[in-house]
Amino acid sequence: MTGRARSADPSVDAAVFTRRTFDGRAVALGVTGSIAAYKALGLTSALVQRGAHVDVILTRAAGELVRPLAFQALTHRPVALDLWDPAGAIAMDHVAIAHRAELFIVAPATADAVARLALGLAGDALGTTALAVRCPIVVAPAMEPRMWDHPATQGHVRTLLERGVVIVGPVGGRMASGEHGVGRMVEPDTLLEHLAAALGQGGPLHGRRIVVSAGPTREGIDPVRFLSNGSTGRMGYAIARRARDLGADVTLISGPVALPPPAALTFVGVESAEAMCAAVLDVAPTADAIVMTAAVADYKPVRYSAEKVKKQPGDMTLVLDRTPDILVALDEVVRERCDAPVRVGFAAETSDLIGHARAKLEGKNLDLIIANPVPASFGADDSEALLIDRTTVDARPLGAKADLAGEIMRRVHGLLQERDARILGRTRS
Ligand code: CTP
Repeated sequence: MTGRARSADPSVDAAVFTRRTFDGRAVALGVTGSIAAYKALGLTSALVQRGAHVDVILTRAAGELVRPLAFQALTHRPVALDLWDPAGAIAMDHVAIAHRAELFIVAPATADAVARLALGLAGDALGTTALAVRCPIVVAPAMEPRMWDHPATQGHVRTLLERGVVIVGPVGGRMASGEHGVGRMVEPDTLLEHLAAALGQGGPLHGRRIVVSAGPTREGIDPVRFLSNGSTGRMGYAIARRARDLGADVTLISGPVALPPPAALTFVGVESAEAMCAAVLDVAPTADAIVMTAAVADYKPVRYSAEKVKKQPGDMTLVLDRTPDILVALDEVVRERCDAPVRVGFAAETSDLIGHARAKLEGKNLDLIIANPVPASFGADDSEALLIDRTTVDARPLGAKADLAGEIMRRVHGLLQERDARILGRTRS
């Protein structure tokens, strides 16, 4: 029954959807003289571990705080330090790093660095590179809270934002000086998410609004008890990240999970099936695609007890009511639209995977359904799945959820192009 999957656009290289975001990408990292420069080592290490080729540029002040050799040891590349050192790598060709960079980061960026970037000063290796790059620029400021608040700094930040520079942070907390306030550089893990999103600017899903639901829902019994299921949200979070890193404008609607919300996307936290339904229908009018990975509870207690339910002798009966089927409710709203969003569902099944998934594909009027055998895929890093549409069944062997997410996005991209053609045909006729 396995056939050739439709809905793949041959003009876009399939590898774009499944490759790891940083793998093989040329990243230029400028480090300036804030005590947060030590965090740049962690960032460099994380980028290198993810396969990026990192060129580090240190200002003189940064070189006083963190030894260039430390960066060199992590990147296995020379560190650019001084434009005027005849033996220095950057002196030979002062824009070579800029020409190969696919992403330019300044982290940490001091108040002085922010001002120089805004003014376009090019008196050092960082400044020349900043003017010569033609790739996305991400700046992570770090400075004393009063310096950050100063109208001069804020003016420079506005200038950079107007120019399309992505500013991440600073965040609140305790400063090295002992003061508390907003001025700390964001942690490398958070910054990495913004970098992934910036690298995806202009990707194949650029300009598409993609909604992803994830995790379980919780149906309250009383203030301390609820009905739920074992969904961890990992598949949905992987899909949301992958869509974001391919350039999409992503809204992630999530039930309660133990995962931190991903950065650089719109996050909506919900609890119950009804709240998730309302959140999905709220964004449906502007969505291009909706991927429902959430394990929505099908039943909720008929009555919610505002008081904690006390145990009684003998059995207890909990009377349940159906929750809304979100995909069915969505279909009722969008069915007649020629620009109805592409709809993707998930089916976690313990038996007759294809039969049950096909019934859901047709019953909920979906474009694609991903069938998983459970409980094997619940909470695991890896997942095996069948991608099923009206005519084909594409079996994906056991692999990382991140890779499956890429494959699902490749199919969604193809379906979006079919939808574009449909809309165009309708407007012409
Ligand atoms: N779904 C939904 N609303 C619900 C239940 C499920 O939108 N109330 C969505 C899920 O997010 C998933 C798809 O429908 O994309 C299939 O979910 P699943 O729980 O497997 O199917 P059900 O229709 O609930 O059928 P059953 O539980 O009987 O297998």
